[in-house]
Amino acid sequence: MSEYWQKLKAHRAATMDTRIKALFDADPGRAGTFSASLGEMLFDYSKTSIDAEAMALLIALAQDRGVAERREAMFAGEKINDTEGRAVLHTALRNPDASVIVDGEDVMPEVRATLERCCAFAEQVRSGAYQGQGGAITDVVNIGIGGSDLGPAMAAIALSPWADGPRLHFVSNVDGAQIAETLAGLDPETTLVIVSSKTFTTIETMTNAETAKAWMAQKVADPAAQFAAVSTSAERTAAFGIDASRVFGFADWVGGRYSMWGPIGLSLMIGIGAEDFRAFLKGGAEMDAHFRAAPLAENLPVLLALVGIWHHQVCGYPSRAVLPYDQRLSRLPAYLQQLEMESNGKSVRMDGTAPATVTGPIVWGEPGTNGQHAFYQLIHQGTGVVPCEFMVAAKGHEPELAHHHRLLIGNCLAQAEALLLGRSMESARALMEKAGFEGAELERQAAHRVFPGNRPSTMLAYPQLTPEMLGRIIALYEHRVFVEGVILGINSFDQWGVELGKELASAMGPILEGKADGAGKDGSTAQLVAFMRSHG
Ligand code: F6P
Repeated sequence: MSEYWQKLKAHRAATMDTRIKALFDADPGRAGTFSASLGEMLFDYSKTSIDAEAMALLIALAQDRGVAERREAMFAGEKINDTEGRAVLHTALRNPDASVIVDGEDVMPEVRATLERCCAFAEQVRSGAYQGQGGAITDVVNIGIGGSDLGPAMAAIALSPWADGPRLHFVSNVDGAQIAETLAGLDPETTLVIVSSKTFTTIETMTNAETAKAWMAQKVADPAAQFAAVSTSAERTAAFGIDASRVFGFADWVGGRYSMWGPIGLSLMIGIGAEDFRAFLKGGAEMDAHFRAAPLAENLPVLLALVGIWHHQVCGYPSRAVLPYDQRLSRLPAYLQQLEMESNGKSVRMDGTAPATVTGPIVWGEPGTNGQHAFYQLIHQGTGVVPCEFMVAAKGHEPELAHHHRLLIGNCLAQAEALLLGRSMESARALMEKAGFEGAELERQAAHRVFPGNRPSTMLAYPQLTPEMLGRIIALYEHRVFVEGVILGINSFDQWGVELGKELASAMGPILEGKADGAGKDGSTAQLVAFMRSHG
């Protein structure tokens, strides 16, 4: 364990009895010092136990781990995903004017051409120039899973005020319930299906794609003509029958969970239009430029990462809650679960050795205010500490409902305040006395009304959720994951941990069908196979 980890642990041990509130009392400028901004986006991490020394040590750790060098290597197209021998260049997708050399070749002309093709196709679908058998497209179904679903599905909700194209639907689960219910409401003659799969082999996606094709074939003479594909495999999309004019490719240097900036965003482009999609890219590029240029101590992704490192690796809090007070970010926690947990949920470092610390906090969350009436009880009074990452816009999209938005903001700020301050036994007692309690009953009841407080939270505040702002938010979290990965020595861009389950699942099919026996399966799995066979 490097000297900085040890110093951080020692500093934590020495300061853990200092309450966060006391840090504010001691330093009236604390909020400003422990905040950073990019334009009108404000990140306030002052309601954490990080003090000046902790921050200096965290920055020193980031420097020592080579964050700045690794960041430049990523932007320069070096093959930093070294377990797969790939560059990591999703940033190139949102910066079409750049020039990026991979294996001696500028990859940007291809990126620009694909973006132009995607935008042109999206506009054809939107304008009705591209038609289904029954006329203009009314509905688009994106079939994909993980990184080929979560990004556009999340953004389609986030950017619904900009939706002025065909309706968007997303099918990911192999559970037939999802595709059956989605297709049941649609007319095959005016539906476009986009099969989104980097590999074009993912079993869930390919099963859903075949089901959609069969559904389409019931009414449409040439069903493949109402399919488009987003994939790196031109061969497999051709074998599926999709004409190359509606196949949009991307290079292997775009990881699945980092891919919504390119053709995987096609459904979103159709929903909101090319111009607004480009605004989303612009927001991502702005965060990239900030990430590359801002000093580490003022760098939003670096600071968000260091707060994460402080809470998970130094303080030992096992999870982090993402709490958008923005109903349109309802799928952001799910999106971030893949982004963060698939990237950094690993127990081997790039050099093949075990990490020196725990890795990968559990990421979870729900939009506020709903969570307040569900799991916030535990966040306020549970025995464990859950660092909370709040986010909220100053302005909503419903001017006629401004009072709703005031309540929303009020709740968000109040929750962060309540977590910080808590309520002492003394004030709980005073409250109970006022309510007429006394003696032993007062003591018993008051204990239930005590809030420990001193619970950390951060706040990401922005003027309004626009395509550009969403781009900034997503890029902020991508780079946060990257910085955390570099500090931990992890390759954040592979995902070997998903392979074993996939292999075993494909062997399970024939066993469930009774075509292969389950000999060699453990007792529990054998029992469950028998149960499924006899009740299925
Ligand atoms: O779950 C593993 C994974 O490879 C993800 O990383 C990826 O986003 C998802 O599967 C879908 O993969 P594909 O786009 O190849 O269908």
